[in-house]
Amino acid sequence: MNNSDSKKQAVARAAIDFVEYDDVIGIGTGSTVDFFIDFLKPLKNKISGAVASSLSTQQKLEAHGIRVLDLNDVSDIPIYIDGADEVNNNLQLIKGGGGALTREKIIAGASKKFLCIVDDSKIVDILGKFPLPIEVLPMARSYVAREIIKYKGMPVWREGFITDNSNIILDVNHLEIMEPITLEKELNQIPGVVTVGLFAEREADKVLVSSDNGVIELNK
Ligand code: A5P
Repeated sequence: MNNSDSKKQAVARAAIDFVEYDDVIGIGTGSTVDFFIDFLKPLKNKISGAVASSLSTQQKLEAHGIRVLDLNDVSDIPIYIDGADEVNNNLQLIKGGGGALTREKIIAGASKKFLCIVDDSKIVDILGKFPLPIEVLPMARSYVAREIIKYKGMPVWREGFITDNSNIILDVNHLEIMEPITLEKELNQIPGVVTVGLFAEREADKVLVSSDNGVIELNK
């Protein structure tokens, strides 16, 4: 296992301490979360079940025998656990590198606590070096791209990729996001935008960060 994977595995293991018996757990998407699901397997009979943020996470949970619940059948999700592509000092995030941002944002919003798990390569001063993913209705692709250029971003169509919701992704390069909440709100207003991969209005409540020196906690 390479160093990056070891760090992802370490932070995923640390997140298990935040799982309480009988909880419904919201589960994100990505390689860090995949490690978390592996660690969750031995606890599968202790938790009430999991709400999955993507079809790939759902498949992995089911393969491990972990009960998957429909969000519509769940009224209380005490904790949502997910990775991120970038994290700033205010625990605001860029997410969607794996294209699952819409369902991730829904479950994060529906959960009491959002625990984000990352390795130290994801920590930044200013969000935007990682291209900002935006899920867009296919027929609005060119229009939304033209609107985004007004924000000095360079949108690139993630060709060949279709989201779990049958939409497309524009990855927006060259943004320096000084006001994440404002940008999130404004981009969300463009007709055809389904979800912006900025998690600023609903940021993480706690971030676990792994480095060569171990795992630390960042709190709001
Ligand atoms: C999935 O759509 C993303 O939001 C992921 O949370 C993000 O890309 C982190 O993935 P890794 O854990 O694979 O780095």
